[in-house]
Amino acid sequence: MKYSDDQLLEFEKKWCSYGDTVHYNDPVHIFESCSESYLKDYQGNNYLDFQMAYSAANFGYANPTLESTLIKQARQLPMVASEYLSEKKILLSKLIGESIEEKWKKKGRVHFNVGGAQSIDDSLKLVSANCGHRNVFAFEGSYHGRTLGASAITSSFRYRKKFGSFGSRAYFVPYPYCFRCPAGANKSNCSMECLNLFKRLFETEYASVLDVRNNDPEYVAFYIEPVQGTGGYIIPPFDYYKELSKILKKYNILLVADEIQMGFYRTGKLWSMEHFGVAPDILVFGKSMTNGMNPLAGLWAKEDLITPEKFPPGSTHSTFGSNPLGAALGCEVFNIIDQNDYETSVSRLGEYLLEGLQDLSSRHAEIGDVDGLGLAARIEICHADGKTPNKFLTDTIKQLGMTRSIETDFGAMRLVLDVGGYYKNVFTLAPSLNITFEEIDTFLVLFEAYLVMAKGQA
Ligand SMILES: Cc1ncc(COP(=O)(O)O)c(C=O)c1O
Repeated sequence: MKYSDDQLLEFEKKWCSYGDTVHYNDPVHIFESCSESYLKDYQGNNYLDFQMAYSAANFGYANPTLESTLIKQARQLPMVASEYLSEKKILLSKLIGESIEEKWKKKGRVHFNVGGAQSIDDSLKLVSANCGHRNVFAFEGSYHGRTLGASAITSSFRYRKKFGSFGSRAYFVPYPYCFRCPAGANKSNCSMECLNLFKRLFETEYASVLDVRNNDPEYVAFYIEPVQGTGGYIIPPFDYYKELSKILKKYNILLVADEIQMGFYRTGKLWSMEHFGVAPDILVFGKSMTNGMNPLAGLWAKEDLITPEKFPPGSTHSTFGSNPLGAALGCEVFNIIDQNDYETSVSRLGEYLLEGLQDLSSRHAEIGDVDGLGLAARIEICHADGKTPNKFLTDTIKQLGMTRSIETDFGAMRLVLDVGGYYKNVFTLAPSLNITFEEIDTFLVLFEAYLVMAKGQA
């Protein structure tokens, strides 16, 4: 028996907690199936997906290679107690470690857990095991997850408000968000003044973060999203991290790159940090490592931080940590990466998308900013002055995309969009890395149609 939409929603009302993000949407949506770049809802409507589960399904839904990997592993060894090893866990660690060694000439080790936030928590444990505590810097606009540990270094107070005291809350530093420059400049006259504001913190003990007598910082690591994700797919000036890391090195502050959303070729590189010429000390990954088909995530750390003496057995544990299904998928994702030139294809597709967005922006004053790196692109929606954030228009576009079908070359279609940004007025576009140029054209047609409709309602 198939329940109707209404019946399921009645059950949901009665049995499901509202504590997750489902009820950010009104109405809520039930999806039934997916393929490549498309989702189908319970009533049979098709959606072109430019959210791809928050960049957790970079290699396309129902990817046949990954599907057969999953089935094969499920038949052979779906699960093993985490005190034992599987071949795939060891091989996946090796693949990740080798990728980092090849790019940055650093040796290190890999540690798995079940989700991005849990792996961020593990990285905080690692920082603490090395530095004696976990007071860290993070960015305004940062999102590192919603466990208690990750919430402490995620900028939104909203996520911490009801959940006790956060003694180790991060010191939040302004992000180089050039469209809304924290130092009042703009892209054309940027002299990275935001970085000077950070540098200033270390000038005297009265600026509050340094014991100047022995160069001892109060904050021992800096957590970054190399391209800020939930904050609005914000791409910093390309020299920013080189300059930042000079300050961090001077005071022995560790650089932790959160690649959970931007890793696995979202930006056209395996690790988004590769664009910026700086090597992290710790790198945290998740999401698309399993193409969203198993909740496996983890961290890599430099050898001296994660030796068996520094991070001994039992430092963290989860029943499903490094589970063989996720590890097998991760190995296959590396195989797919090896067999495809995503560096070239993602950057070509990204340039094509960005050109289309620039064209749209030239015709609609409400598009204040567009930008992109690989297939991580942003559209910032404003009022007609092109600057004042317009959340209402953003929400209306998103809502229309979810509820109104439009005839396209691929049939009647709706559009799944993700909204982020400091003012919740940015579309953070994360299409499948296997998207076609024709599908990008369709996206641009759909987006403009919803924008025009939404302007009519504003
Ligand atoms: C940059 C970043 N870090 C951490 C997380 C948390 O990951 P998870 O949702 O798997 O806990 C996310 C999730 O969106 C993220 O984008």
